[in-house]
Amino acid sequence: MRWGFGLACVATLLGIASEASADVFRDPDTGFTFSQYNAPITTGSVYITFRIAIPSTAIAGQSYDAVLQVVAPNTAGWVGVAWGGSMTNNPLLIGWVNGGSAVASVRRSASHTAPQPYTGATLQVLSKGTKTNGTHWQFTAKCTGCTLFPTSGTNSKNLNPSGGNRFAFAYSRTKPSQPASSTSPINVHDLFNYWEHDFAAAKNSDFPELVARNLNFSSSAH
Ligand code: HEM
Repeated sequence: MRWGFGLACVATLLGIASEASADVFRDPDTGFTFSQYNAPITTGSVYITFRIAIPSTAIAGQSYDAVLQVVAPNTAGWVGVAWGGSMTNNPLLIGWVNGGSAVASVRRSASHTAPQPYTGATLQVLSKGTKTNGTHWQFTAKCTGCTLFPTSGTNSKNLNPSGGNRFAFAYSRTKPSQPASSTSPINVHDLFNYWEHDFAAAKNSDFPELVARNLNFSSSAH
């Protein structure tokens, strides 16, 4: 397993040191072109980076797969993304590092209490996009069921493949208590915040091929 971050990533991290921004990142490891947002988590230059890739064939109103890549400083115990932009009634994709690999899990909660495993979405961790070094860890996971989901009552929400979608993130400095298990309990977050993620810049015309290529190296999680 290779631990080093590529130069592109270092440059990206340095490049965003002065301000948070939305931009595009071409990942040399997985081959995906990601739309990226750097979320500040301290008043210093410390960020969690959130990257999304979707198929260029994605159609508004229909479910489509999405690949999420998260780059977090080693001080982050777990990081979660709320696909519907709030804690309640939407898929919460959380991930953390476990030794040399990552564990990811989709959960859901109807209230501001510990979310429970959610079977309405499935994940595959892409191990080529999952690594750690002396300062950061990152995971990459494909989600089926994260772009069209029930909200409350009989309502559902679908994410616009051609514009911005309101996202939320949360992170905790405390690692999950059973880090090898995707159903591990987690502690409440130390920080949450919101952003608008640009899906128009997340489109990949070779999405199916890239998924297939990456899955040849993958392990599953749920
Ligand atoms: C043990 C796990 C968790 C507990 C006990 C918990 C608890 C809470 C509580 C009590 C609040 C209200 C805070 C306030 O009003 O100041 C809150 C807000 C929030 N939480 Fe969590 N949370 C957990 C996990 C998560 C996860 C995994 C996410 C994933 C992204 C998340 C995202 C958010 C967001 C975005 C808010 C802001 C309010 C909202 O948009 O609904 N939480 N949480």
